[in-house]
Amino acid sequence: MSTSDRPDIFDVDDRVRAGSSSQIPDMPSYREHWSRAEADPDGYWLAQAKQRVRWRKQPTRGLEGDFWSIREAPISWFADGELNVTESCLDRQLERRADKTAILWEGDEPGDVRTLTYAQLHEQVCRCANALVELGLKPGERVIIYMGMVPEAAIAMLACARVGAVHSVVFGGFSAEAVRDRVRDCGASIVITQDVGKRGGKHIPLKATIDTALEGERGVETVLVYQRDPAVTVNMQAGRDVWWHEQVDPASPTHEAAPRRAEDPLFVLYTSGSTGQPKGLVHSCGGYLTWVAYTHALTFDLREDDVYACMADIGWITGHSYIVYGPLCNGATSLMFESIPTYPDVDRYWDMVARHGITVFYTAPTAIRTLAAHGEAPVRKHDLSSLRVLGTVGEPIDPVAWRWYYDAVGQGRCAIVDTWWQTETGGHCITPIAPATPEKPGSATLPMPGIIPSLVNDEGREIVGPGQGRLCIEHPWPGLARTVWGDHARYVATYFAMFAGRYFTGDGCRRDADGYYWITGRVDDVLNVSGHRMGTAEFESALIAIDDIAEAAVVGYPHAVKGQGVYAYVVLQPACTDEAGAIQRAHAAVRSSIGAHARIDRLQIVPGLPKTRSGKCMRRILRKIAEGEPDKLGDVSTLADPSVVEVIVRGAEALRKP
Ligand code: WT7
Repeated sequence: MSTSDRPDIFDVDDRVRAGSSSQIPDMPSYREHWSRAEADPDGYWLAQAKQRVRWRKQPTRGLEGDFWSIREAPISWFADGELNVTESCLDRQLERRADKTAILWEGDEPGDVRTLTYAQLHEQVCRCANALVELGLKPGERVIIYMGMVPEAAIAMLACARVGAVHSVVFGGFSAEAVRDRVRDCGASIVITQDVGKRGGKHIPLKATIDTALEGERGVETVLVYQRDPAVTVNMQAGRDVWWHEQVDPASPTHEAAPRRAEDPLFVLYTSGSTGQPKGLVHSCGGYLTWVAYTHALTFDLREDDVYACMADIGWITGHSYIVYGPLCNGATSLMFESIPTYPDVDRYWDMVARHGITVFYTAPTAIRTLAAHGEAPVRKHDLSSLRVLGTVGEPIDPVAWRWYYDAVGQGRCAIVDTWWQTETGGHCITPIAPATPEKPGSATLPMPGIIPSLVNDEGREIVGPGQGRLCIEHPWPGLARTVWGDHARYVATYFAMFAGRYFTGDGCRRDADGYYWITGRVDDVLNVSGHRMGTAEFESALIAIDDIAEAAVVGYPHAVKGQGVYAYVVLQPACTDEAGAIQRAHAAVRSSIGAHARIDRLQIVPGLPKTRSGKCMRRILRKIAEGEPDKLGDVSTLADPSVVEVIVRGAEALRKP
């Protein structure tokens, strides 16, 4: 593609490419790698696995299985390989990077900084691993990690991996009920938490939430508690709860890592789908680590002296892949941020960029929009000349926010990498490669080597060339989640039943004449609110559990800052006389069943839901009304009671009036 005469295309700035020693420093090499990975996936990925990962036993087998036979058996990569991922992330780094900063931690208060070198991190992980063994943890057992953004959270993850246990990190915003569901689903024997989390000057009562979650539960024998703030007192249950500083600190600083097979599970991470019950996606040791190391190095064009900063929370896949496993496997300095972008002020990010000399900065569109709303002055206060690559992830970024990121933050000389991927994909799938890919604001651009995207229409036919459809991926890649914990049938039903032989992403997508991909958002009942993925069914089941509520339907609608807002239509029981009380209970129910990050933005009491004569709720109609487009409802004559629509439309208008 000749790009010089195309105003819609941003060529890579020379200053981004200068000094790159990447395998993919330009477009010809991108094309060459992509074709090679397509023509010979086994050869390509075995070579990458060998180069990027330290193995106890080198794999000789590449991919086994395919998307056609996935019902009978999960796919596998590198099945005869053996490794412990922490030897790639830690032990190996001691050879050349013992004194290099592995984790650079910035606490809630600006300038509250801790650094852990690779030698120190290795030692801490060994101590924690020894402590976990002492507490009875065996390979293959599950550990729930419910912590804030402290280095000990990464240490806990790595310690689990070191002993061959399977961690499941639960985002610290989730409620006790949500934690309990996850503890039960994966059958965890140990929980690792901390007294309180700190975020934006507030305390998050993590330990107290764990106490509630475990009330009356059997199975969890030990709760290991890291002390974030000695001034805070928490309840410690005798015989169950132990302090990190009493158990981990005195443990031995050396530990022999437990060898794992490449396909052994490394972790389970729960994510929302179109049912009320979150799924535990299972990621492998060998394939996952290969994929995150590869994508982290190539997308960001990682350099040895980079200060790499990903603003995600380790409770989400971005934190797993691009704060912990990818960066550490690549020997990077990875910044971990405990706070929020607006604390104590809206220039917090830029203040950190200047103080730490951040070169690669990775955040989410919702944060960019929030900060853009405050104008350029807070950005201009700081020296941002260290920046080279700016990443975004989590939801589509609109061209306006993209331009602000590029102009105001990147000062027109940084690469923007809009990385499309999912909890399920392990790492980046469609993304610019910083030194190579010409960018278009709002497009995630082109597929990573190993990713063969396809667009499929409603009838299941593949769209060739430019067009719009459902985004699928044609061929297994090493980072794909292998199954749903304890429920392979659900894995198959969710991702492989819609279109036989293809992985269905749940996203809609357009491909333009240059072959660039433009993600249009979810086409299923999954909401994306400020980059947080939540199922409409999770909201609905929380709502209908309330006595006052007869029925509920939840949809998303466009929201200027959050991307999507949550719109709930609620039908009260005929006997309910206290409408205000019912609304209050509805909000409380969602909070206690999901968590504080799940909030209904608009709640409308309706006399009934628009249903077909067979009783199916027409969510399409509710979505259009929530989007403020009641004139685009289409045919409503098939409804059992078309008049209900008119009432809902009028109610929605009243609700929108300030
Ligand atoms: C969903 C996955 C990927 C880690 C964080 C979210 C949306 C993600 C982009 C992007 C457009 C995006 C998709 C996807 N999404 N990145 N760059 N452009 N949409 O992981 O919670 O598993 O959510 O987030 O809809 O399916 P997740």
